[in-house]
Parts: sequence; structure tokens; C-alpha cells
Amino acid sequence: MTYCLNHMKQIVLILLIVISLFSCNSNEKRSKDFGAFEMMLPPGYKKFKLQGIDSYVGGITNGKDSLIFDYGWYSGDLSSAATNQQLFAIDTINGKLAEITRPKIKGKGFTGLYIDKAYKDNKITFIGFNIEDEESILEAFKSIRFPDSDTTINSIKFDFSITAAPSSGRKLFHIHCAACHFKDRNMTGPAFSSIEESKFYSWILDTTAIIQPDSTRYSIKYHRETFGKTLNEIDVQRLMEYSNSDR
Ligand code: HEC
Repeated sequence: MTYCLNHMKQIVLILLIVISLFSCNSNEKRSKDFGAFEMMLPPGYKKFKLQGIDSYVGGITNGKDSLIFDYGWYSGDLSSAATNQQLFAIDTINGKLAEITRPKIKGKGFTGLYIDKAYKDNKITFIGFNIEDEESILEAFKSIRFPDSDTTINSIKFDFSITAAPSSGRKLFHIHCAACHFKDRNMTGPAFSSIEESKFYSWILDTTAIIQPDSTRYSIKYHRETFGKTLNEIDVQRLMEYSNSDR
């Protein structure tokens, strides 16, 4: 009997070890927890921590390529990387508006990310220099999650261009409209692709009196007051074109 019990104990112990080994292993491939945020690391990458004064500073490295992040109040945008050797994109990462940069010539310049409204009052900057496997890093950027991130609102492919300023309808959409409108399905507002062309003009730029009383909080009045002065006719035209495009 005692032999049997001991034997059972051993089996249970071995099982527990095997289970914990397996769970450690699968954790390796899954999201890494950085405390303030989570992120999926490319294969071979590890996280490390640095001493920050007012912020949480650390990085990720595969031994060859490294990126440093700075998470806190004073974290700066990517303007320091703004040379004419860089490309920029503005997009949505898990519901957060993000600016992304990469060098025009792969491996020769900065690969970086900036999120102004990361979590609470904190911003985050990620930056690496002369990164070889840029694709993996851009994929990793897309996986960054904060406690209040909305994982249903995501970019499929970053749309890089030479200016940091929003120019395309897609960028304008992500900056101004994506908080309430999805491209292809209803959210707070109706699906962007389902909106009639003429409505873009009448809901944003038209200044004639509104005949119908507001039935909802984000009605014509809201749209005109919020976007009427910040967006011009060209912007609205681009937004309309984006709503019709299949990207
Ligand atoms: C804070 C939320 C919010 C934001 C941001 C927002 N919208 Fe809306 N939008 C709504 C809601 C809600 C409705 C539906 C309101 C209603 O029917 O009374 C709507 C309706 C519209 C309509 C009319 C649709 C129709 O068929 O009647 C247009 C056009 C529109 N939005 C364009 C935009 C554009 C362009 C942007 C970005 C520049 C934008 N919206 C940003 C919430 C928002």
C-alpha cells in the first residue's frame, strides 16, 4: 500500500512537471507581459529592462537587432526620426492611434512606433536602428496591447508614405472617424462603406440650418462642430473615396 501511494505521488509529481514545462513552452510563443502592456515578440527575441528616471524604459533584442521603448508621460513622438530617409504611417493598433516609421531603404535608418494615448496619461515610443528583419518588428508592433485596448480595431497593413502628415483618406479615417465607425460593419456609427456619398458633405461641411432635431448624441450637429473646421473639402472628398474603396 505505501509503495503504491509513493508510486502515485511520483507519477503526480512527474505529471505536474510535464504540465508546467508545457505551459512554459507555450507561453514562450504567446504574448509577453511587460507590465504596462503586452506584446507578441518575434521568434528569438527577448525583453530587457533599463533604468528609467520618470518612465518605464526597456527593450527587446534578438542579440543582433534591438529596439528600446520608453513608456511614460514624457515619451516623445517620432519627429526626431523625421529625416527624408524615412517613411511614415498612421494607423490603428488594437484601437489606439499609432504613428509608425521605417527607413526608405530597409535596414538603413529607424524602425519605430509612437502611441500618444497609450494608457491613461502615458505615451509610448519604440525605436530601433538599422533593423534587419523589419517585417517581424512591424508585426510585433501590431500586437501591442494596453489594459484598455480594443483588440477588434486593427490595422491589416501599414500604409507608409513620405509625409508624417495625414494625407490619404485611410489615414484621415483612422485619425478622426475610427473611434466610432468601422469600415465594413456598424459600431457606434453606421459602417463607413454603407454611408451615402452626399451625406459626407451634408454631415460635415454644409453650414445651412439643420431642419431635423437631433435624435442622437453624435448626430449632424456633432459632426459639423467636431469636423467642420478641421477638415476641408479635399479631406472630405478623400474620406468619401476611402468609404467606397475596398481597402
Ligand atoms: C464619436 C463618434 C463618432 C465619430 C468620431 C464620427 N462619427 Fe460619424 N456618426 C456617428 C454616429 C453615432 C452616427 C449615426 C448618428 C445618427 O444617425 O443620428 C454617425 C453618422 C455619420 C454619417 C451619416 C450616416 C448616414 O447614413 O446618415 C456620416 C456621413 C458620418 N457619420 C461621417 C463621419 C466621418 C467622416 C467621421 C470622421 C471624420 C465621423 N463620422 C466620425 C458617430 C461618430
